[in-house]
Amino acid sequence: MRRERAAAFAPGRVNLIGEHTDYNQGLALPFAIAEGVTVRGEALDPRSSDAQRVYAHALDLGETDEFPLADIPRLEGWRAFVRGTAAELLQAGYPIPGAHLEIGGDLEQGAGLSSSAALEVALCLALADLASVTPLDRIAIARLCERVEHDWAGAQTGMLDQLASLYGAPDTAMCIDFRTLQIEPVSLRLDGWRFVLVGSGERHANASSGYNERRAECRRACELLGIDSLRDVSADGVAKLPELLRARAEHVLGENTRVKDTVAALRAQDMPAVAALLNASHESLRDLYEVSTPAVERTVAQMRKDGAAGARLMGGGFGGSVLGLFAPEIPTPPGAREVRPGPGAHLLVE
Ligand code: GLA
Repeated sequence: MRRERAAAFAPGRVNLIGEHTDYNQGLALPFAIAEGVTVRGEALDPRSSDAQRVYAHALDLGETDEFPLADIPRLEGWRAFVRGTAAELLQAGYPIPGAHLEIGGDLEQGAGLSSSAALEVALCLALADLASVTPLDRIAIARLCERVEHDWAGAQTGMLDQLASLYGAPDTAMCIDFRTLQIEPVSLRLDGWRFVLVGSGERHANASSGYNERRAECRRACELLGIDSLRDVSADGVAKLPELLRARAEHVLGENTRVKDTVAALRAQDMPAVAALLNASHESLRDLYEVSTPAVERTVAQMRKDGAAGARLMGGGFGGSVLGLFAPEIPTPPGAREVRPGPGAHLLVE
């Protein structure tokens, strides 16, 4: 028997450190945040004439979408994620029914907090539940959502955002090794230190930014060195690359080390060391990976002026949010908001 109603919540994410490492089989240290996307679904009566169609309503945008499950046409914007997730679930053998879907939540779009991943993950959980089949395991969901990004939204992203949304836990960041997909919980005992976010005022979008170009540059560097991923690059290898690719590879090499160092610093509760690593990550993303913008630079500079011990651009770059770390005695500046690790994606019992 199919379930008639299902609802799911999937959070956005903050990435503490480890940027542009996921698609290079490297390391990252994200956590899920409290804000996220909620999808409520109601299966259509299988005997009705529109039983094989999906009707979606994006509450905050006041927009709707409608498509047949038999042959799902492509569209852009938020509709690409809904259509792509439904198509990929069907492709994976999940007999999802026609349904009304209501999409809501409190996660700002374009803020670099992974609203698209949260949407895909919430859709996956709700639709699979409506299909009343064994839920996919979390790694399979993340892979499916990655295909949605690549094949439906045109963004060659890795799985950082989806894994962070799926594996979130209160008071815990997770160290993800993208080569093995092993996820190690790292407890965040902050003792009054705070992670805060400030928007750069510039909308972030993977598909239309330089994101895909960066990924292609990494692939080119690997081809030249005859390696599978930049996880395998050595300092000697980096030195052999042409200037631009050398800078990209140097960032990835350094960023993987910074993730390991941040995990060690958090375990030692050495927050000034964490702050210094955030600053070093920013410099590398700005100078070597070149994913910063004047608006992001202004936001980082302002945050440091406001007393942040560490501040850096977060996520793919090219806009979005800036992450700062504040010591207990420094007040959170106006316009900044504190973020803490919250629970991962889950079904809602209503
Ligand atoms: C975006 C992508 C992720 C990851 C980050 C950069 O958020 O969706 O896969 O590559 O950028 O770390």
